[in-house]
Amino acid sequence: MVHDILITNIKGLVQVRENPIQKISGKEMSYLPVLQDAFLVIADGLIHSYGSMKDLPADVTAKQTFDATGRFVFPSFVDSHTHLVFAYPREDEFVMKLKGASYEDIAASGGGILNSAKRLQLLSEQELFERSIPRAKEIINTGTGAVEIKSGYGLTIKDELKMLRVAKRIAKETPLTVKTTFLGAHAVPLGKKKEEYIAEIINEMIPSVAAEHLAEYIDVFCETGFFTVDETEQIVEAGKKFGLIPRIHANQLSRSGGVQVGVKTGAISVDHLENIGDEEIEILRRSETMPVSLPGAAFFLNLPFTPARKMIDAGLPLAIASDFNPGSAPSGNMPLMISFACIKMKMTPEEAINAATINTAYTLGLSQTHGTIKAGKVANVFISQPLSSSCFLPYSFGSNPVDQVILNGKLISTKTPW
Ligand code: NIG
Ligand code: FE
Repeated sequence: MVHDILITNIKGLVQVRENPIQKISGKEMSYLPVLQDAFLVIADGLIHSYGSMKDLPADVTAKQTFDATGRFVFPSFVDSHTHLVFAYPREDEFVMKLKGASYEDIAASGGGILNSAKRLQLLSEQELFERSIPRAKEIINTGTGAVEIKSGYGLTIKDELKMLRVAKRIAKETPLTVKTTFLGAHAVPLGKKKEEYIAEIINEMIPSVAAEHLAEYIDVFCETGFFTVDETEQIVEAGKKFGLIPRIHANQLSRSGGVQVGVKTGAISVDHLENIGDEEIEILRRSETMPVSLPGAAFFLNLPFTPARKMIDAGLPLAIASDFNPGSAPSGNMPLMISFACIKMKMTPEEAINAATINTAYTLGLSQTHGTIKAGKVANVFISQPLSSSCFLPYSFGSNPVDQVILNGKLISTKTPW
């Protein structure tokens, strides 16, 4: 039988796991299975089989063959937290920050999320799509195969729906696996009372998002100056009635109670966690909620990094995502996030790679299909540049380890994508 793709002489086939797993926690995160001198066969968009080169059946043929001598094959990264649909970058605010303004100062003076919303509201859906699609291509080039995209820069019903439609169009027109999240509760729009806006989110936005099947998840920016714990609970519970699963922006700027309300409402993940202590760690230990660290945002805003060592040593799982957005993390580069996780959070390369593949997949309900190399899973992999070891990936921070990208079993040209 002729298969679609055969990759031979793979120096290391990374994250090979025969057993189905949902997520990896605690000590087990330090184990990353790598099969040396391996082959991988892809057929019909799926991983067909893999093994040691010495066991490669002599009669295997494929339409495309790659000799991966000196190279590793990784499962594509799963980036479970992005805001990559946005209108314009905000490097003007970046310069204000360099001169001493804080993230909160900028937000309070009408900058930040409100600045992004004002400019996004002026764009048509087509224009917003055209402005966002290069970022989808950019993350494919750095090894991402599945991504979560949030709304939250619309802040009116029309513009929130517009953002989510653009995210759904990215799902259709690119080879990325896309999951979408309604984040109407990202900030209170100018000229609106908070109670009034929350009522609009609950009574109008959520039902409309659900009616058009525009999102799988609901998120709230639970933070001082944004939405309180009680408001978060109210909004998330309203979303749950329409089948939306909560994932929460929690504990970014303060110990806001975001972790507690996330766990209480059954959130699949609580994200950021720059500010957490023993109490939050204990609560997470007794839950199925995945803690997600966004080291790009901590780096860019000069915030403390998530205390990964403490959390993993306490037995927790941990995931890593990019938070790609124009205000606090203008990068969707997952290899760079893995470097930050190692360098700034003292995670081992093995832990960081587990965190950016199977643990992020868990938060998007993709553990069965993405995040590890296993026969029957979606063939989302990349062939690396020649690497001395898989640890070279976090070590060589800022360089792109990705050479060839295969998504849904098809080679993606990174020069002129699809
Ligand atoms: O995840 N924290 C809230 N939301 C984004 C930042 C949004 C912005 O500044 O545009 C984040 O960091
Ligand atoms: Fe975010």
